[in-house]
Amino acid sequence: REPYVVSGKGHTAVAINAAAKAGEWIKSRQGQVKDLGTKTSAQDLVTEVDKGVEQMIRRLVLTHYPDHTFLGEESVEPGAAAAAAALEEARENEYMWIVDPVDGTTNFVHGFPFYCVSIALVVRGEITVGVIYDPTRDEMFVAEKGKGAYMHGIPTAVSGETNLSDSLIAMGFPPDREFAQPVNMAGLQSILPQVRGVRAGGSAALHLAYVAAGRVDGYWEVGLNPWDCAAGVLLVLESGGKVSDTLGRPYDIGTRHIVASNGKIHEGLVSSLTSADATGYKL
Ligand code: IPD
Ligand code: CA
Ligand code: CA
Ligand code: CA
Repeated sequence: REPYVVSGKGHTAVAINAAAKAGEWIKSRQGQVKDLGTKTSAQDLVTEVDKGVEQMIRRLVLTHYPDHTFLGEESVEPGAAAAAAALEEARENEYMWIVDPVDGTTNFVHGFPFYCVSIALVVRGEITVGVIYDPTRDEMFVAEKGKGAYMHGIPTAVSGETNLSDSLIAMGFPPDREFAQPVNMAGLQSILPQVRGVRAGGSAALHLAYVAAGRVDGYWEVGLNPWDCAAGVLLVLESGGKVSDTLGRPYDIGTRHIVASNGKIHEGLVSSLTSADATGYKL
């Protein structure tokens, strides 16, 4: 494997270094959470590790780029409205870092080894760098706008699957049960009979990285935030895949209801969600 800890300057190197350091810290604390709290609901967890890791990434990034804006999950008030407002404010800066210090906090708390660090850089509204690090498997996914996507120096590529019936699809259950549960149930009911299997691993960012790496053929989830998606979206696009909202419209940093795929089964996923009224939008 190529080494991934790079020293020196450059946005991507800074992101990779921060993700590697963060991942090491998170892994060392699995099973040792001291301060478990909740946010919007009893299912929406936060720990001292989420907060501490975010502060560390912020410091590492802003040391190199003091003029950039930093949007991290744990520095935003919980809830969709606050997330939208924080994004609007952060967008005023040309350079915006969007960070999820631990994506998959519930997994982390339970010792289910499927969580990651997600770091994206958005320049004038365009995602230019996306880094996702899975410390359990020591897998560093890196994408640069226009330059492709890699894992430890090896290019990642989406799958070539063209049939929905032979596809493995990932999905997610956001903590906002009231809003998401009926939508998710409708989506699952519509998609499950049409595909080979459905997986819900509990990390949106890692699922996007898995679409990029061809480990699943598609993924959908409603009710996400920019820090769940930004890095993973670039990984999927630079690996030859497609990302849209659940109605098939182009992805934007503010998109909350997302479909990502190898491109070939995209239309099938979108129309399945639409016909089941499972897009998350009031149709
Ligand atoms: C969550 C995870 C989960 C997804 C939720 C996210 P967090 O992020 O990505 O898989 O279903 O929608 O909120 O809170 O663990 O960073
Ligand atoms: Ca969270
Ligand atoms: Ca997240
Ligand atoms: Ca998180």
